[in-house]
Amino acid sequence: MAYAGGMTALAAYPAAAGLRARLPAPADKSISQRALILATLALGESRIANLLPSADVHATAQALRQLGIVIRPDATTPTAAARDWRVQGVGIGGLRPPTGVLDFANSGTGARLMLGVLATHPFTATFTGDASLVRRPMKRVLQPLAEFGATYLARGGGFLPLTLAGAVEPLPIRQQLQIPSAQVKSALLLAALNAPGESILLELTPTRDHTERMLPCFGGTIRVLPHEGGGQSIHLLGEQELRATEMEIPGDPSSAAFLAAAALIVPGSEVIVERVGINPRRTGIFTALREMGADISFANEVTRHGEPIADIRARCAGEVALRGVHIAAERAASMIDEYPILAVVAAFADGETRMDGLGELRVKESDRLAAITRLLRVNGVELESDADSLRICGGSRPPGGGCVRCEGDHRIAMASLILGLGAGKAVSIDDDAMIATSFPGFAETIASLGGDIRPL
Ligand code: S3P
Repeated sequence: MAYAGGMTALAAYPAAAGLRARLPAPADKSISQRALILATLALGESRIANLLPSADVHATAQALRQLGIVIRPDATTPTAAARDWRVQGVGIGGLRPPTGVLDFANSGTGARLMLGVLATHPFTATFTGDASLVRRPMKRVLQPLAEFGATYLARGGGFLPLTLAGAVEPLPIRQQLQIPSAQVKSALLLAALNAPGESILLELTPTRDHTERMLPCFGGTIRVLPHEGGGQSIHLLGEQELRATEMEIPGDPSSAAFLAAAALIVPGSEVIVERVGINPRRTGIFTALREMGADISFANEVTRHGEPIADIRARCAGEVALRGVHIAAERAASMIDEYPILAVVAAFADGETRMDGLGELRVKESDRLAAITRLLRVNGVELESDADSLRICGGSRPPGGGCVRCEGDHRIAMASLILGLGAGKAVSIDDDAMIATSFPGFAETIASLGGDIRPL
């Protein structure tokens, strides 16, 4: 599979006029990954429309093929061959031992969710990934999965490459989630599907619930109940029968956030991003931007396949007039992937923006807290950071002019380029290759808004 982009240094130039467009967002990465996996565990052929054609999603598809699953483009819609797919599901517990090492490339979600699936299949599988993924902690998912009866041998005790021996006779679990992570939660739910009896998870800090919402689309039953001590308990009966379905993946709010941010920092802009997921566990960024005074609204709200979606309009009619805000730690899970772009917008907001509870950013595709700090500093923005918080001193227009080392992190690369559209001078990045993991065609999309992004 080839991805446009390659290793190219890019620069984004200050926009000469407002950005204006109405366009769809790329499909949701989290939901695309889950759709492929649940379609695999359902009986029969599922059709998934608008699957994100990105490197991360293709890595998961390739791993599923190595486990015996037939996944092919939907020939009946040739114009969308790369987006509409058919998956021949084999039912819960139906995967075959892998034909080789499973390589999840840059995808933490793919690796961790598939560790969950395979933790309750009675065979051994070896997982690996790219230079970024092998640095990300897997113990957070391996340790709780061990309670199903799975065992593992991992480099350094908890890193890829690792070999997982799935439980031969899995046991259901009762666990309180220790980290607010949808990847860990989803891994445990996927493992529980192939364990007899009821597994119960207690989640004190709510995280994205795409897995819970998608299970009923495949005929599954899951109960989510308020927990008396706060949070919620999630009850899932194993060995259910899931049935094939048809679904369409909504736009990704995390990708839409970059487009909305561009509109907010370039005077005279109006951008409408269509059919974006507005699951409340994902929309923290839009709430935060509104608190900063941004003109952001949702229209045409509907629910499809369990997920609320809407068109999101972001405008900056006159001059940029945003103000700094405080984002408390409890809000981190609802906007965990959006801190790089929020930090960029904060650089344009009058006064101080303070963000707390950012410890998890240190174990994303890069150490994002360090990467955000570098991104802003090389572009002349004043800020302070400590172990898990950031304080950004905004102003009307950051100087820009810096070259950002992205450490192979797609969101740092995109946030830097968006900064360049609104800053005083062009902002460049060292490498655009990883942008394709979540937002294929990003530079072309920005060009369609009227922005100028070019190879250096
Ligand atoms: C994801 C969950 C989040 C997020 C990631 C996708 C998911 O990670 O950062 O991009 O699809 O479940 P954590 O679960 O590690 O917070």
